[in-house]
Amino acid sequence: MSIKEGVYRDPTTMEPLYPEHSPELESLAMTLIAESNGLAASLHPLTAHAIADFLRPMNSYYSNLIEGHDTHPIDIEKALHKDFANDKKNRALQLEALAHIKVSERIFSKCLTVEFNPYSTDFLKWIHQSFYDELPEYFRKVKNLEGDETDVIPGEIRTCFVKVGKHVAPDWKHLSAFLNRFETYYNPSDATNRSKIRRVIAMAAAHHRMAWIHPFVDGNGRVVRLLSDACFRHEGLNTAGLWSMTRGLARNEKDYKANLANADLVRFNNYDGRGNLSNSMLTEFCRFYLMTAIDQVTYMKKMLGIDTMLNRIDNYVDLMVAKGLLKHETRYILEAVFLKGEIARGEVERITGKSDKTAKAMAHSLIKLGLLRVDVTNHLSPYQACYPISASPVLFPSLYPTGKEMDMLNAMKGL
Ligand SMILES: Nc1ncnc2c1ncn2[C@@H]1O[C@H](COP(=O)(O)OP(=O)(O)O)[C@@H](O)[C@H]1O
Ligand SMILES: [Mg+2]
Repeated sequence: MSIKEGVYRDPTTMEPLYPEHSPELESLAMTLIAESNGLAASLHPLTAHAIADFLRPMNSYYSNLIEGHDTHPIDIEKALHKDFANDKKNRALQLEALAHIKVSERIFSKCLTVEFNPYSTDFLKWIHQSFYDELPEYFRKVKNLEGDETDVIPGEIRTCFVKVGKHVAPDWKHLSAFLNRFETYYNPSDATNRSKIRRVIAMAAAHHRMAWIHPFVDGNGRVVRLLSDACFRHEGLNTAGLWSMTRGLARNEKDYKANLANADLVRFNNYDGRGNLSNSMLTEFCRFYLMTAIDQVTYMKKMLGIDTMLNRIDNYVDLMVAKGLLKHETRYILEAVFLKGEIARGEVERITGKSDKTAKAMAHSLIKLGLLRVDVTNHLSPYQACYPISASPVLFPSLYPTGKEMDMLNAMKGL
């Protein structure tokens, strides 16, 4: 039998869209809601904003990594400063990272209204289009199932058959029916989705079902993870952008892909739900997804504790003092900016106990290292919090994989 004969054509074949009643999933959803509450509460909003800016490249790093695109964080930081590699591949990877960062920034402002439906086809197409519009040619071609090279058209639903793992995704001619069902079923404003706990479990189920539909010829992985980011934001579980689901998925990539593949399976027997697909495997996927989310939120909560952060700022300054790049007193500036989000330029003199000239030179050395930001168009603008990727191994240890952190530490130490 050819692929085209056995392929799904009717949206009822993606049932169940929601796992059967599971007290364990409800309890996980409640834990996630409780844990994510107050993640940003102890931080000044401007500091939280600066940390979210710092985390966006990390989110992009991990999402592209899941697709096998391993762009070094140092190269992402260079790209943010418009410093691009000469060779085609590395330059393309840098541009891809930037594209992801830009889209995830734009996504956050899209999901502010209660009525917004992140599961709408229009929004999925918008994510895909915004991402692919920024991608170089290098990433805009894929081989389809017949082995022919196909262009990836930004925002366009596929017009060919695709296979992901062992799963042959639904017939492209019927995709609009699958996507319509997806959009209406998960719509957070629908009366059936009034319960927040239900909506949180539904995010997990929708993540799999969108990957299963595989609406685009390529880019589905990045789009579905950006969709998850949008859902967390929309549900108020990551309002400040202080944690990354994708980091958790990438760190458990094998389990992520195994759970996705298992949830593609048709139901095992009469005790496995009533839909075409397995209820037990969908439940298992949701369990994995929610546990991964809880793990990331609790991890970031610990990471961003005030005392912990102040200690790390100290460690960072010690390292830079040893290298002769910073003066000892700069720690007081960094601590003040971390606690208050920003300080007036005149404040540095008082904070450091140094002359105006010396204090300004200290602030300047921090700007050079990317640890303070100013509005260059306004010489009176305050000094604001800023956290560069290069300082990540000391300020936010273990956010990136160990090997990458070692490279960053060595670069920091000038080795
Ligand atoms: N067995 C599976 N069933 C459903 N989705 C899967 C399966 N295996 C992987 N995926 C999803 O498909 C994505 C890869 O699809 P693709 O269109 O190539 O996305 P991208 O171009 O972003 O890599 C993975 O990131 C994952 O989210
Ligand atoms: Mg791909």
